[in-house]
Amino acid sequence: MPLRKIFVAGCCLMLAGMSGCGDNKTSSDADAPATFGTLHDGRNAMLYTLGNKNGLEAAITNFGGIVISLRVPDRKGALEDVVLGYDSLRQYEADRSYFGAIVGRYGNRIGNAKFTLDGSEYTLAANDGGNHLHGGLKGFNKVLWTADEKRSVPGRSLTLTYSSPDGEEGYPGALSVTLMYTLNDENELVIEYEAVTDKPTVVNLTHHSYFNLAGAGTRDVLDHELMIAADRFTPVDEGLIPTGELQSVEGTPMDFRAPTRIGDRIDYEDGQIHRGRGYDHNWVLNRDSDLLQVVASLFEPTTGRVMEVLTTEPGLQFYSGNFLDGTTRGKSGREYRFRTGLCLETQHFPDSPNKPDFPSAVLRPGERYHTVTAYRFTAR
Ligand code: BGC
Repeated sequence: MPLRKIFVAGCCLMLAGMSGCGDNKTSSDADAPATFGTLHDGRNAMLYTLGNKNGLEAAITNFGGIVISLRVPDRKGALEDVVLGYDSLRQYEADRSYFGAIVGRYGNRIGNAKFTLDGSEYTLAANDGGNHLHGGLKGFNKVLWTADEKRSVPGRSLTLTYSSPDGEEGYPGALSVTLMYTLNDENELVIEYEAVTDKPTVVNLTHHSYFNLAGAGTRDVLDHELMIAADRFTPVDEGLIPTGELQSVEGTPMDFRAPTRIGDRIDYEDGQIHRGRGYDHNWVLNRDSDLLQVVASLFEPTTGRVMEVLTTEPGLQFYSGNFLDGTTRGKSGREYRFRTGLCLETQHFPDSPNKPDFPSAVLRPGERYHTVTAYRFTAR
């Protein structure tokens, strides 16, 4: 597995091949944010466009830190938007699918919407049956983040901040979160997450784009070939809460160690596939360090587009869009039917606050939460 060291320096993250702070594109009127829309409470959300020298383009709003569109080339160089989403801010306000969003304070599920930390029990918003999902009723995907102009490079990187008050959605501690998106010349959309707290709490931030490398809204994702560098996954109960076991993928439909067409085993007679209505599981990534590392790759044969996922995180949720049913109309009125987008969410394991044997998601005062994930685009 290729490793790359991460240097966090003042204003920007230096990944190999990424331009430094000084030599970025210079700002121009084209890089200035546009108004994306007005929220129900009257505040405006802005739209920021990032681009690189190869013509890739990402449009991101400070509402929910949502990636609205991501245009990447196919094997002939043709750019296409590869993420599902909507045309208007109002649709994102109403969205229940987390299209393109930043998810927090805790991405994925917490069983019975409760956890105990340092002897105190905390009750969270239950928004998925009796469980807590993706930060609750109003997670980080539904808040207006503040753009930090000093720490953003117009047209190249966007830094957003959000202060989550003590007790928000039931979580202890006031949490200050910083999120930086960068589109670099290596064709990577890099997401860097940071957080500090004033009381012990739990944090697990992730990104929830639904990818379709054939182009958003065109077809299902079953012909995509996926590789996940993981020997084990975390099996789940009926409520999609991990049982606590780390199960080998050997001989199961969860084995993506070699690139495999997603549709090949998605409807297998298998208890885990049945519970997830397809793939909706966390893989235990094979890691040899906590540095940024390629952990997954996705290939779409008709266009040749390839997306690699790099992360510092221990887990990856592969969700095959099983709850999409065609009732959601996305960009240009396109129907988003069953399995027309897939998520690759880098994360700590679901329900870690209740699973002492899983890598800890606890953040304490004086500590700094810091994770990095990148989606890298090529074609072959
Ligand atoms: C979860 C799914 C959930 C979806 C919500 C995914 O991250 O794994 O179970 O339905 O988010 O859109």
